[in-house]
Amino acid sequence: MTLLDVAELERSFGSIRALDGATFSVERGELVGIIGPNGAGKTTLFNCVSGVLDSDAGTVTFDGTDITDVEPYELARRGMVRTFQQTRELSTMSVGDNMLLPTPDHPGERAHHAILRTEATQSREREAHERAEELLDLFDLETMVDEYAGALSGGQRKLLELARALMLDPDLLLLDEPFAGVNPTLTRDIAAHIESLNDDGLTLVIIEHELETLTDLVDRLIVLTNGSVLTTGTPAEILEDQRVIDAYLGS
Ligand SMILES: Nc1ncnc2c1ncn2[C@@H]1O[C@H](COP(=O)(O)OP(=O)(O)OP(=O)(O)O)[C@@H](O)[C@H]1O
Ligand SMILES: [Mg+2]
Repeated sequence: MTLLDVAELERSFGSIRALDGATFSVERGELVGIIGPNGAGKTTLFNCVSGVLDSDAGTVTFDGTDITDVEPYELARRGMVRTFQQTRELSTMSVGDNMLLPTPDHPGERAHHAILRTEATQSREREAHERAEELLDLFDLETMVDEYAGALSGGQRKLLELARALMLDPDLLLLDEPFAGVNPTLTRDIAAHIESLNDDGLTLVIIEHELETLTDLVDRLIVLTNGSVLTTGTPAEILEDQRVIDAYLGS
């Protein structure tokens, strides 16, 4: 079953056509990589899919519903969460508090009695705290819980960003360069976490330049060049595709 369908997506910045008819889909349960030269439009693609940027044309369908240009907050509520190439932790806030930032409200609950609302809120807060603790444990960040996020290494920041995205309990997770600037040991850790999340049923799309790690990890690669999809296939197929080699050499 198709979870994400992107059709003919377009987005320009002045005269730069960052997205030029990008079209692809992702099946539920897939672990997909997106590669392409610098400036190919990969981040813009995530920005448009996740509602961070409005697209100029084209459609994005998530789980059968048209979500083109729906706000990121609303998409997170519906199960689509993304991370950023430049991590967005709040450095003067503790690691633990960073984890609690994205917890969505659960609107639509009509608690007329203040006391009920308070209890519901408290129970949600308790659940969020427990989940945050669980995730920090899982990602070996538990000893950092009271440290400022700014004290983390680049790799730990990527881990925190991943852990924080998981607070929203997504069905689809979009990761923009999760291995960039991460040392080899942490890279292996992050890759192992991604693999086990996918084994547990999470669908992931990962933009990455670090091809060695990525090709080991993913079921399928999508190659983006000049704002559109050049080709898609298994890592083995893609790495020996002459058009892909040319696209990289040409950049
Ligand atoms: N906010 C913006 N304003 C103007 N131009 C932009 C903006 N965002 C992206 N671009 C341009 O759009 C094109 C695609 O950029 P994008 O960041 O999507 O590429 P990318 O594939 O993610 O590259 P990289 O691998 O370096 O991260 C580039 O030419 C870039 O300069
Ligand atoms: Mg990018």
